Order: sequence, then structure tokens, then C-alpha cells
Amino acid sequence: MRPFKQWIRQILIRAARDLDSEKSHGPVMRNTKQFLTKEIKIPVIITTSIAAVIVYFMILLELGLRYDTMIAVLMLTIALLFVFIHEIRKEKSISNDNDAIVLVCFILIIGILAMQIAQEYISIFAFPISAFVVMGVMLINPRTALIYAVILSLLAGILSNMNFIVFFVLFCSSIIVLHPAKNIRSRSDFVIIGLRSAAANILVITVFYLLNAYHFNDYKFYFYYSLLNGVFTIVILLVIMPIFEKIFSRTTSIKLIELSDFNNPLLKDLMLEAPGTYHHSLMTASIAENAAIAIKEDSILARVCAYYHDIGKIKNPKYFIENQSAGQNPHDPLTPAMSALILSSHVKDGAALAKQYNLDDSIIDAIKQHHGTTLMSLFYRKASEKNPDIDKEAFSYGGPAPRSKISAIIMLADSAEAACRPIDDISNVKIKDTVENIFKHNFNEGQFEKCPITMRELHDVKESIINTLLGMYHARIPYADDEKDKNNNS
Ligand SMILES: [Fe+2]
Ligand SMILES: [Fe+2]
Repeated sequence: MRPFKQWIRQILIRAARDLDSEKSHGPVMRNTKQFLTKEIKIPVIITTSIAAVIVYFMILLELGLRYDTMIAVLMLTIALLFVFIHEIRKEKSISNDNDAIVLVCFILIIGILAMQIAQEYISIFAFPISAFVVMGVMLINPRTALIYAVILSLLAGILSNMNFIVFFVLFCSSIIVLHPAKNIRSRSDFVIIGLRSAAANILVITVFYLLNAYHFNDYKFYFYYSLLNGVFTIVILLVIMPIFEKIFSRTTSIKLIELSDFNNPLLKDLMLEAPGTYHHSLMTASIAENAAIAIKEDSILARVCAYYHDIGKIKNPKYFIENQSAGQNPHDPLTPAMSALILSSHVKDGAALAKQYNLDDSIIDAIKQHHGTTLMSLFYRKASEKNPDIDKEAFSYGGPAPRSKISAIIMLADSAEAACRPIDDISNVKIKDTVENIFKHNFNEGQFEKCPITMRELHDVKESIINTLLGMYHARIPYADDEKDKNNNS
């Protein structure tokens, strides 16, 4: 599958070189290690139209080649195409990511194929619709999963001679897994999903049996097929889901939880080579996780991004203050320009390490963006004392500035943690002032100009960071300061 995909990409790269695709506004195809040297933009309409043609012929072949059927299926497919294009365009994280668009279409096609196989060789009641809905929730988003639930159960009903019972049974068994799929934390949770799906199937077919919709003999078979449905759901989720995760570079909650395991080689290296950075990353993770919860972002992703944001420091740990012991500063013999170069290189080194260890794109982006294009003010000040005309850019991080809410959270949580840690006489007021200054400074420097975060969300993130830091440093804050704060507040 992978060599085939890379081969297709290679052809597309050549085509893109021949055509000047700069004016296209379609999604961006991601770079992969060996082949991509240039971004290729393929409009959403092309990908979804190809999928629509495949779906059209799949349904048509099942229903038979008649003129009236051809027109009816064409109308149905066009309606489907519009729903998908509408949904994809609405969701920026999908419309800007070719892999995601291909995946949306691919899951639908595989779903229809599985439905036809189940109907042809077993029974439509054994069609594991829940597996495709769970994949939709975990690999794309819950809204797309809901569309899968509606479309697949509707098609199953149509392909089973307009059987309403089939539609209703499959729709119920897929809807019942929609919400639990959002909270899946380990692969063993798939067993519960399979059981839920089978239970929903059995419940609905029992209701229809009691309503005299079919005989006991049929009910008996439907009952067994429903159990089989649960087994197929578990098998598909355990076998196919990790393959899709890998091929389409999707970040699922399971993958994130696996990455947050402290036995992960990168985190182990960080702990051994740069213990100060490791501790700082853990603190930043708690701050970022709470901030993500405050603005309803993915808190597990925020935590994992924080764990890995400074892995680039593994290369030269002693040049970073949190790993230095008293009286030893390796920057002393260096020029400010050299020091700035070493400091900024931890971003590039981190991104390279993350790629080498196959971390997900969202984590790599957070690593690249966690300092944005901010200025290394200490070294810039030192250099400008000697030469006032010194280039400011040489003392700024390479960026880019945060492009996602999670990257913005990591940037702010990282700066707040790093700024509060060295304060000796820490107090509630000092924590609030420090965090306030960090927000103002980054905002005024334009670090959030290309980030889809709102002012309201920035405010909520700030409040959350202050509260988490107050909780963290509670033991270090003198009692007298608490009293003073209370008096100030009252
Ligand atoms: Fe950093
Ligand atoms: Fe950091």
C-alpha cells in the first residue's frame, strides 16, 4: 500500500512541477521523507468526485444496470457528494490536509464494500457499521462519523430491497457507539464498542420480532449475525485502524496515550540527558493540559506536545539554563550570536528527532512553533550593546509562529513555566504579573496573528495558566502573601 501511495505521489510531484500550481487553493499534500520536495495542491472536488464515481458504480452494480436505477443512483451520489464537500470545506483541519480527505472517502468506500460482502456472503445484520463510525470519530471527527452512520445504514436499507428494519437496526447500532468512541483510551476499549454494537443490534431486532416483523427462525439467525457483527467490529478496529493511523498519519487518542508513556525512548533520553528540561516539560504539560480543557481543545494532545516540545535540547543540554548547575555557564566563552544559534537550534533538532521517531505531525508542528519567531532578548541585548545596528532576526527563533490553538497553548505554558520557576520570592501577585506580561509580550509581537485562537480563548488560557501555576507554587508562597492577596481582593 505504502509503495503504491509513494509511487502515486511521485507522479503527482512531476505533474506539479510541469504545471505551475501556485494559484490553486486546494488542500496541501504532506511531505514524506524520500519523495516530496514540493507541496502539491489537489482541489477537494477532484478527490471527492473520484470517490463519488467509485461509490456510484458500487451501488449501481448492486442494484442492476437499468435506466431508472442509473438516474436514481446518480441523484443519490450527487447528494452524497454535496454533503461531503460541504462538511470537508467547513472543517479546516480536513480541507487543508489531503491525507484526511482521501481517508474520508476511503473509509466510505471500504464501508460500502464491507456492506456488500456482508450482504452477499453472510447477512446484512453482520455488517460491522460501528467499526466505520468509530474510525470516523477517531481518525476524522464525530460529525463525519455521524454522516457515515446515516449514509451506510441508509444504503444498507436501500440495497436490502428498501428494508426499513435493516436501516433502523444498523443506524441504532452505529449511533450507540458515537459518544463512547470519543472517550476511547486504549485498544481494549474496542471490545466494549463491539459488545455495545452487538447489544444494540439484538435489542432492536428483538423489538421488531415482538412486533411480529419476522418469524422466530429468522429472529434466531439475526440474533447470531448480530453477535458476529460485534466480533467483526472488534477485529476491524484492532486490525484496520492501526493501518489507517499509520498510512494517513492520523493522531488518535490511543496513539497519544501510547506516546505519553514515560518508557518511550525519546522521553527516557530526555530524562537521562536533560533532567532539568524533563522536569520543565512535565510541569509545562500540566499547565498546557488544563489550558486546553479551559478552551475545549484536545487536552491529551496538549499534554503530549508539552512532553516532547523541548526534545531538541537532548543534543546540547548544558546550554539550557534548567540543566546548568550553579557557577557553570557554557555560554560565557561564546559570542552572543553563537549562543543564540545554539538556543534556536533546539527547535530544528527537536523537529528532526520527532520525525526520526515517527511522531505525529501535530506534535512536530507544536515543536516547531513553540517559540514562534520570538526574540532571544538576553543575547540580543548583549550583542546590541557592542553593535547597535545588529540584525534582530539573527537573534529570533526561526518559527513559524503558532498556527494552531494547541501550539499557542504550548508556547504560553512553556514561557510561563520557564519564567516562574527561577523566581525566589514567588507570590500570587508575581505569578499573575509574570503571566500577564508574557501574554502581552507575545500578543504585541504578533505571535498569534496566524493562529485561529480568539481573544476570549486567549483570556481563558491565561486565567487557566495563572490558576495552575498558583496551585503548583502554593507550597512555596508564604502565608503572609496569601493574607496580603486576600486583603487586596477584598
Ligand atoms: Fe523550547
Ligand atoms: Fe520549553
